[in-house]
Amino acid sequence: MSVELQLFPEVKVARPFVKWAGGKQTVASALVDFFPRSFEKYYEPFLGGGGVFFTLSPQKACLSDENKWLIDTYLALKNDWKKVAEYLEKMVNTCSEFLKIRSVNPYSLNQLERAAQFIYLNKTCFRGLFRVNKTGKFNVPYGAYNRRYYNLENLEAVSFLLADVEIKSSDFEFGIDGITRNDFVYFDPPYYKLGGYSDFNRYTSKQFREKDHFRLAALCRELDAKGIKWAVSNSNTDFVKDLFSGFHIHHISARREINLDSQNRKVIELLITNYDNTI
Ligand SMILES: C[S@@+](CC[C@H](N)C(=O)[O-])C[C@H]1O[C@@H](n2cnc3c(N)ncnc32)[C@H](O)[C@@H]1O
Repeated sequence: MSVELQLFPEVKVARPFVKWAGGKQTVASALVDFFPRSFEKYYEPFLGGGGVFFTLSPQKACLSDENKWLIDTYLALKNDWKKVAEYLEKMVNTCSEFLKIRSVNPYSLNQLERAAQFIYLNKTCFRGLFRVNKTGKFNVPYGAYNRRYYNLENLEAVSFLLADVEIKSSDFEFGIDGITRNDFVYFDPPYYKLGGYSDFNRYTSKQFREKDHFRLAALCRELDAKGIKWAVSNSNTDFVKDLFSGFHIHHISARREINLDSQNRKVIELLITNYDNTI
């Protein structure tokens, strides 16, 4: 297939192009209501599927995530979404094709092929989630869903929105390099575990541990001392409330999938801010 120039003359609103554990798409508008009314540049160093970024669609942004394959996919769409779409078009949604594509080392491919492989696997795997094992290998089985796994119009809109955005793969501490007083950062880390329930924590070969939650809270206090505004999402736990004591704690009602039949449970999550959004 060749993707024609000017396929969609009016560029539409961009939406997340992958399904992501902990994705914020359904609560993004509620979260954005708590963001400062104005700021210069938007930073999001736990980008994932970009649920909040796509809802906010800021003019100036710096996006990052430690998952390099995910970030390479954003970069590929920014650089040449049509070529990514051409590769996707050649991939067939069958179990044998899935297993063949899954067995290819993503880093034996060029960036555009690797992006197509990432989107294909995310959308055709079981429950549509990205998960890796300890060695960083994607290990989700085939999902057998009879649906299209990408949307050309959306890939173009994503590419358009990313055109002037800085995107990098890094740990969150480096993700905010260069941030200044007029900027704003939203942190959405892997959540601290809720009671006995083990939350999803397999986005990268490393796990996000308690020491990383401490590291994030220390960084937030440093930013606060410099007068830089931030908001952090996390689970509604005493651990998180203690970590961020002294800041503004908001309760957000979210829906989370709990089992294979996609039954939802309503949970309360926290959004912590170092500013008063009512002023
Ligand atoms: C809860 S998800 C973010 C979901 C995102 N807000 C959305 O709407 O899809 C957390 C993200 O943090 C990333 N991550 C894990 N450890 C990290 C680290 N040390 N630095 C930066 N990103 C990290 C994961 O790859 C994952 O994409």
